[in-house]
Amino acid sequence: MSEMIPNPEEYFRQFVPSGDSLLSELEAEAREEQIPIIGPLVGELLYILAAATKARRILELGTATGYSGIYLAKACEISDGKLVTLEKSPGLAKRAQVNFEKAGLAHRADIRIGDALDEMKMMKDSFDFIFLDIDKEYYLGVLGECQRLLRKGGLLVADNVGFKDADAFNRAISERREWRSVKLLSFLPFHSPEKDGLCLALRV
Ligand SMILES: C[S@@+](CC[C@H](N)C(=O)[O-])C[C@H]1O[C@@H](n2cnc3c(N)ncnc32)[C@H](O)[C@@H]1O
Repeated sequence: MSEMIPNPEEYFRQFVPSGDSLLSELEAEAREEQIPIIGPLVGELLYILAAATKARRILELGTATGYSGIYLAKACEISDGKLVTLEKSPGLAKRAQVNFEKAGLAHRADIRIGDALDEMKMMKDSFDFIFLDIDKEYYLGVLGECQRLLRKGGLLVADNVGFKDADAFNRAISERREWRSVKLLSFLPFHSPEKDGLCLALRV
């Protein structure tokens, strides 16, 4: 049997795709200001998942400076779709708007300022893809709205499910028959933090 690669974390780091100069700038800013962004590996994963599923209506919870949103809005370029992204901090939402403009993706992104749950309750449209990345203590609280807003066959991706505050969410999504899900404990280079869980859930 072939041997495993020694020191796999160092080895796989070299394959992390590098983004453009704007994304690198946002990564440096996030390091400096300790803004917990997804980093280039999860960014690319989101892009691939959204593009492969041809998602046209994408909802993001937790915009921050627009880093993850840029990957999702880029996938919308393929489907001629639109990203709706929710952020409670007006200051961060303003920065995200500038960054979507710099990326040439402002026409793909609709940033809404407010509490994610309150904003979702007012929504009537359905989505093909939801990315969940707000404070983990709110994950369980928004799960019902994700269930209502995501079309059957749509994909929910939840970041940071390795956090203790995500425990109730992890249990609920495993138990509810409206979802079919996997939780992956992964090494995610340049993600905040690098060893964490990701949940991929299909709305059934
Ligand atoms: C982990 S950061 C998002 C990082 C971003 N997705 C990225 O990777 O570039 C979480 C963001 O969610 C926002 N947030 C936290 N709880 C929220 C809530 N209940 N409603 C709306 N936004 C919230 C925070 O202000 C913060 O900007």
